[in-house]
Amino acid sequence: MVGRNEVVSPHVFLIKVRHQAFVNNNYLIVDPVSHQAVVVDPAWEMDKIQVELEHAQATLSGILITHSHHDHINLAKPMADFYNCPIWMSQREIQSSGFSSRHLIALDDTAFHVGGLSIQPILTPGHTPGCVCFLIGNNLFSGDVLFAEGCGICMDLESAYAMFDSLELLKAVIKPDTHVFPGHTYMRSPGQNFGDLLGYNIYLNFPDKYAFAAFRLRKGQKRENLLAFR
Ligand SMILES: [Fe+2]
Repeated sequence: MVGRNEVVSPHVFLIKVRHQAFVNNNYLIVDPVSHQAVVVDPAWEMDKIQVELEHAQATLSGILITHSHHDHINLAKPMADFYNCPIWMSQREIQSSGFSSRHLIALDDTAFHVGGLSIQPILTPGHTPGCVCFLIGNNLFSGDVLFAEGCGICMDLESAYAMFDSLELLKAVIKPDTHVFPGHTYMRSPGQNFGDLLGYNIYLNFPDKYAFAAFRLRKGQKRENLLAFR
């Protein structure tokens, strides 16, 4: 029984999905009261997501897209059609990518609700022009902006500067005990505390955008690393 003013934590389920060299983290976030759910960046293996929905006895009510790279939007349209639910993507990402769907809803940084889930978009350009992270309860879904040990690749100086500003914004607004759920896993498992990332993620520890950009765009990075940290 839930009291009227009681805040109920959303349930987060990790779904590992694969296609060829791609390994992505999909997340199902379920409101335990209404049993409405949203999925973040669905790709590759719809059956796995559907199994998780069934286990959670939840209804898919929306699709959150952190950015428009193929490995993050692969299932957005088919799932939106199947479940007749919205796809949320930032306005800037829609404009820069040309992504379209009759289910598409443009985001800014205004919070919105799905059932009892309060979803706060945080605009974090850099990896792409319209990247967005989603804060839901005590959980940050960071796409390819922030990984446990790194951050997404940046294509040029301008995007590296933007990424620095985005990471500084996260440092300003995200509480240390927030769980970070990135789009890809490298060494540490998803759900690390943001406060711990501040200690070991070098990209959160540059003094200014110039030093950050020089390191992020450094020569000699292995191609496999560039691909992995996309
Ligand atoms: Fe990406």
